[in-house]
Amino acid sequence: METLIKTPRLNIREMALSDADDIRDYADDKEVMRYLMLWFDMDNNIEDFVSHGIRQAQRNPDERKEFFLTIQSLNEDKFIGTAIIAFDHDSSSSAEIGYIIKQSEWSKGYATETAQSLIRYCFEVLKLHRVFGKCDKLNSSSANVMEKCGMTYEGTLREHIWLRDHWRSSRLYGIIDREYFAKTAAGLLKSEAHSK
Ligand SMILES: CC(C)(COP(=O)(O)OP(=O)(O)OC[C@H]1O[C@@H](n2cnc3c(N)ncnc32)[C@H](O)[C@@H]1OP(=O)(O)O)[C@@H](O)C(=O)NCCC(=O)NCCS
Repeated sequence: METLIKTPRLNIREMALSDADDIRDYADDKEVMRYLMLWFDMDNNIEDFVSHGIRQAQRNPDERKEFFLTIQSLNEDKFIGTAIIAFDHDSSSSAEIGYIIKQSEWSKGYATETAQSLIRYCFEVLKLHRVFGKCDKLNSSSANVMEKCGMTYEGTLREHIWLRDHWRSSRLYGIIDREYFAKTAAGLLKSEAHSK
């Protein structure tokens, strides 16, 4: 499948039907799913989720609303996780990013490398004005990732969405194009090459 983004360690490519089993594996992991709003019903429609991603990839670029992407290791072609860019319903100049890393690959800097590259793609290729992300207020690991990528904490959406058995509150992070270009020029953004 077509590569959208390459980072020093990752190949971020369009999703393929053959990714469904790897997605099912992380979807079965309660630790991975703990804070997640589901993009798919955990029971049986992972194939629908993947098919939706593939249909989006086949759309005319001007009409594409979502990018459902597979994160793969550059060297071994190993499945690492999923990355998402979804245009805001209210504005085609703004998009939300998301990332899921399978548990065996946590704490290697892959989410940070992925998020940084999604932000770069949104500003430098899609020419967007704003990129944002949301995470459960308890998901400090994800909040950390967005902060490391130069995003600003904009506030907490209180109990805005039902997550399985409780109302989820989410921390909202955002970055504007001028901030991205200024921080990049000043060398303030963490390099996509993981420093560890
Ligand atoms: C959140 C998630 C994406 C992080 O992925 P990752 O590849 O491990 O992230 P990274 O390695 O790039 O960075 C994690 C950072 O958070 C820190 N961190 C890790 N676990 C943490 C925790 N429980 N609390 C606070 N910080 C934590 C790490 O120290 C690291 O910071 P550092 O680079 O300064 O040391 C991953 O845990 C995941 O996929 N979780 C399930 C899905 C999810 O929640 N996705 C986000 C949806 S908003």
